[in-house]
Amino acid sequence: MKTDNDIKLRTDRVWLSPERCWIDDIAALTVRQTDAADYPFATEIQAQVPIYDGAPVRAALAGDGRAALMAEWAEAFLSGPGIVVLRGIFADHAPLDAASDVFWQIIADEKAAQTGGGDHFAKPGANDRVWNALEKLCLRAPAVFAAYYGNPILAAVAEAWLGPAYQVTSQVNVVNPGGEAQSAHRDYHLGFQAASDAAKFPAHVHRLSPALTLQGAVAHCDMPLATGPTLYLPYSQLYEPGYLAFNQPEFRAFFAEHHVQLPLAKGDGAFLNPALFHAAGHNRTTDVRRMANLLQVSSAFGRAMESVDRVRMSAALYPALADSGLSAREVACAVAACAEGYSFPTNLDRDPPLGGLVPQTQQALILLALAEGWPAERFAAALAAQAEKRLT
Ligand SMILES: [Fe+2]
Repeated sequence: MKTDNDIKLRTDRVWLSPERCWIDDIAALTVRQTDAADYPFATEIQAQVPIYDGAPVRAALAGDGRAALMAEWAEAFLSGPGIVVLRGIFADHAPLDAASDVFWQIIADEKAAQTGGGDHFAKPGANDRVWNALEKLCLRAPAVFAAYYGNPILAAVAEAWLGPAYQVTSQVNVVNPGGEAQSAHRDYHLGFQAASDAAKFPAHVHRLSPALTLQGAVAHCDMPLATGPTLYLPYSQLYEPGYLAFNQPEFRAFFAEHHVQLPLAKGDGAFLNPALFHAAGHNRTTDVRRMANLLQVSSAFGRAMESVDRVRMSAALYPALADSGLSAREVACAVAACAEGYSFPTNLDRDPPLGGLVPQTQQALILLALAEGWPAERFAAALAAQAEKRLT
């Protein structure tokens, strides 16, 4: 009898089921209150969410507080409310405004050419999307890319959750006036599967999936509540079977009743564990096209959602970095957002480890070329040769 019971308990522990998702369980987790004492770097707590001001964050990251602040963020994502708001990510709005100009041009060009744009969570016309905005920005305006992503705060929050060699992707989302709210969801990876498919992955993969991605949104305009900034359910990332539950009517109703919503100013960002229940809000204005740059940052060990041609990007970015006026730290941040930081997959016949355990990465190559002042043509040739070696 006991054996049967143990077998059943183990089976249920490893194979989560949409039929065993209970509101009481998520309610018990999300009733938690955030204690400001747990987040000493935060300026304040609003609606259970730690809010950080840019200036002290920049000072901490540049000095002795770097490891402690990144540890605070990591635990906020893992076992805390699952989300932090970073105010004033850009000390100066010029890179943000320049990027916005490029994004609006891309939207206009893609509309004219009738390329781009469908959306998985919204009706046609309710919003404008720029997929793979990372590569498009880099190729159109590499100097703008360098200034935008040469940002120590963006780099640090990604590294705090994912470690080094993370892979940035970005999608611009513009919610137009009247654009309706999204339905509550979790994000990539398991958030992009039907519950019946997600249920085929064992429970430890449900716990692992969020560690492979950091989700973020950088506000490119002021986002008062009327514009519909994102709705969140703090602590909901802790609910283990949440990927199987978020579409169920009772869980949608629970989200509708208990979510929080935080206004953002231009240049603020919200960063979240992708397992946090969330949904873009309803834009009730008649005149604000609410633009956010959605950052989906993948672990070096994960598979990103979008294909990105990092060889082409690196070739475009290199000349812009060489005379960007950025500090070495800022250059490293821009390179981290652009170039591949991980050695694998590769072809080990042609790309054996050089003087270490791993073959040279794209990031290492670009930093070496910058340090030695290679001409752009020499760098481009080395980059192409390195990419070629990785092929079978
Ligand atoms: Fe989302």
